[in-house]
Amino acid sequence: MRLCVVLLLATWPLLTTAETLLIKGGTVVNAEDEQRADVLVKDGKIAQVASGLKTPKGAVVVDANGKYVMPGGIDPHTHLEFLMGGRTGVDDFHSGHRAALAGGTTFHIDFVLPLEGDMMKGLKNYWDKASNALMDYGFHMAVLEWSDKVAKDMATVVEAGVNSFKFFFAYKGAFMVTDETYLKGLMRCKELGALPMIHAENGDAIEIMQGLLYNQGIRGPEGHSLSRPAFIEGEGTGRAVRLARLVNAPLYVVHVNSRDAALEIEAGLEAGQRLWGEALAGGIALTDEPCFSPDFKKAAAHVMSPPLRSKSHQVHLKQALASGKLQLIATDHCGWNSSQKAAGRHDFRAIPNGIHGIEERLHVAWEDLVNSDMISRSDFVRLTSTEAAKAFGIYPDKGVIAPGSDADIIILDPEKKHVLSAARHFSNIDTSVYEGKSIKGQVVTTISRGRIAFADGQIKLKAGAGRCSAAALAGVRRYMLYAPSSRAGLFGWRSR
Ligand code: URP
Ligand code: ZN
Ligand code: ZN
Ligand code: ZN
Repeated sequence: MRLCVVLLLATWPLLTTAETLLIKGGTVVNAEDEQRADVLVKDGKIAQVASGLKTPKGAVVVDANGKYVMPGGIDPHTHLEFLMGGRTGVDDFHSGHRAALAGGTTFHIDFVLPLEGDMMKGLKNYWDKASNALMDYGFHMAVLEWSDKVAKDMATVVEAGVNSFKFFFAYKGAFMVTDETYLKGLMRCKELGALPMIHAENGDAIEIMQGLLYNQGIRGPEGHSLSRPAFIEGEGTGRAVRLARLVNAPLYVVHVNSRDAALEIEAGLEAGQRLWGEALAGGIALTDEPCFSPDFKKAAAHVMSPPLRSKSHQVHLKQALASGKLQLIATDHCGWNSSQKAAGRHDFRAIPNGIHGIEERLHVAWEDLVNSDMISRSDFVRLTSTEAAKAFGIYPDKGVIAPGSDADIIILDPEKKHVLSAARHFSNIDTSVYEGKSIKGQVVTTISRGRIAFADGQIKLKAGAGRCSAAALAGVRRYMLYAPSSRAGLFGWRSR
């Protein structure tokens, strides 16, 4: 074992471009099973998974004895260098990727907003933003209005590698769409074979509640939570799911933060709909208690939409993940510094929405779901990696340890203990909503397309090492492609 370490250190400069890697002696965990096996990596791909593999000449050996070797995490919901309300989030594709790799995430899908009403302009803007990427990534596109141009733009960006579109039932006056736009967008997604996604709240109701609270003198961050109760998140989710059912479209519900929303998804699944419910690291590890703290900085750091909820919601979300009623775990990583959050010091409506998590997600899920015995290690892989790869058309390039797949791999030491803290995290954010959280189990090595990306507590890759997923670039189209005239396509819900 010592020899391996010596070899590893001696060849360290080579590792970021290593041609051949042998990960030896670990337990390989996939979404379907786990087995003691070695993993041979060649030219960025997994070449072989079997026990007792011989070390090829010149290969770098990584000792994984007593550790779990798993597919790199896939975070299907992030906002790097996000522009909202005239402010830009503090994590770009460089710092965000450093944070992700340190936490075992090797792929993420970020949200693009159209620029000057044009989707392709927006996408090009994000390709530029991502030029300093360290790891691989893909993009979703937001639909903010409806017109013939938007319908055409959607086809253009699908050709350019986007296969998912997000609609907002919140942020009135900025991103919110009408039910009409949403329905037309759902039907267009079906024609294009793309996956629609929904931010399910109710922007009209929220705006009215915000005004009432403000006029009653409630100005602090607690006003944010009070203006968006769980049953309104449930209303938005129920509406989104039912409208998807009306036109027989698949639907991915982002950031499910309440029992109310989770139950609506469950009802849709029981009615036979093709749905994904996305829980967040924040939703399973945090509650809304800090949002009511008199410490503004602390409370504002926890402001996101939909808001964090009480303990009973948190327990429900975890149980829904464990029982398969929610399908995966993302972060909605959206990094604001406390100086940016301070814009809402005297008016909660002006606090930039969003919390971080791209760095913490795997560790939080390991601690709160695996260590607490709610899910198996294979379920962990499914919820944090495999399911997202399948939903967004990048499986089996990503999301599995198998011959032919990209060598995006993490090695987790189940005995290593650590404490999450802003003082030690790689993200640019100056606070941590996970401050002081103890975790047993730590990602000690992260490999991105065959290159050691993180080891010994350090990032080993440089800006420019990442690329837009080839699979995503190919514009995978597979969701409910149907002939628009088909009765079954339009009225599938009748038989349910
Ligand atoms: O509060 C949040 N979620 N901020 C990011 C934007 C969004 O709605 O996903
Ligand atoms: Zn940077
Ligand atoms: Zn959202
Ligand atoms: Zn988001």
